[in-house]
Amino acid sequence: MVNSTPAAERLDRILTLELARVTEAAAVAAARLRGHGDEKMADQAAVDAMRTELNNLPIDGRVVIGEGERDEAPMLYIGEEVGTKSGSAVDIALDPLEGTTICAKNQPNSIAVIAIAERGNLLYAPDVYMDKIAIGPGFEPRLIDINKTATQNLEALANAKGVKVSDLTACIMDRPRHARLIEEVRNTGAAIRLIGDGDVAGIIHTTDPEMTGIDIYIGIGGAPEGVLAAAALRCIGGQMQGRLILDTPEKVERARKMGVTDPNKAYTMEEMAKGDVIFSATGVTDGNMLDGVRFGRGMITTHTVVMRSSSRTVREIKATHHDLEKFGKH
Ligand code: FBP
Repeated sequence: MVNSTPAAERLDRILTLELARVTEAAAVAAARLRGHGDEKMADQAAVDAMRTELNNLPIDGRVVIGEGERDEAPMLYIGEEVGTKSGSAVDIALDPLEGTTICAKNQPNSIAVIAIAERGNLLYAPDVYMDKIAIGPGFEPRLIDINKTATQNLEALANAKGVKVSDLTACIMDRPRHARLIEEVRNTGAAIRLIGDGDVAGIIHTTDPEMTGIDIYIGIGGAPEGVLAAAALRCIGGQMQGRLILDTPEKVERARKMGVTDPNKAYTMEEMAKGDVIFSATGVTDGNMLDGVRFGRGMITTHTVVMRSSSRTVREIKATHHDLEKFGKH
């Protein structure tokens, strides 16, 4: 639990729904700029909207995964304090627009996303890459292992599912750094879903293979996105491991300053997002699990998933907004 007294527990439950408003606002702001080809403008719009909503929340919040270091990000930077300061002390991981390029091109699966946990319970990940592996719920613990090869992990998953490796689909980011991984996975016979961006969604998609067609996520993406994805899987269920890629002395030092003592450590999902976690994501563009924002006559519709690890309740909220003032000019 983020809070432990009954009154505080009730407040947490209200906070869970309030979080939906935060990602809804960011998603609507970004969605107005879908397909405009301007990543920065869409990101800025989402940041502004998310920050405004966050500052209405009754929390003593501190951003630990945000838009970057203070000198490079004027808003929602790491260390920024948000909320009304009247509630519990929480740490926040956020990405007002996850998949800026996807949004700029109006392609699938860009989302506005946030996770909240008790202070100290989210990994302070530096803005470096992270090697990740993830599967959905319903399997024995540690079925996958980041220290094993992709082939071994695919075989373990196929055995556990009672299918052939060639029946599985692995989601991998389409990057030159993954050339060998892609070749290895293709050699197993498994299918690959190559994604251009947006590995938070890619990882969440492993939790519902029937809907998304994705059984496993493998590969290297951003470390901040890794913490957000771990928070999501803590709530929905599933397994994930991540290892920071600290391949220069400068990165090792940066990570050390953030409390990372073992640069080679493989983090479990529980180590990246501990305790009670609340998570919300709203679709910006249409995606495999979330619809994008729709603008209609006098109304806006949004599709959000909001969830909490302690209860494992996953709520999908399809909202129709008529009070367009709060979303700015339409
Ligand atoms: P942005 O939303 O910041 O553009 O990040 C998109 C993303 O694709 C993430 O989902 C992913 O973790 C990361 O970028 C991968 O980084 P890179 O583009 O450098 O491979």
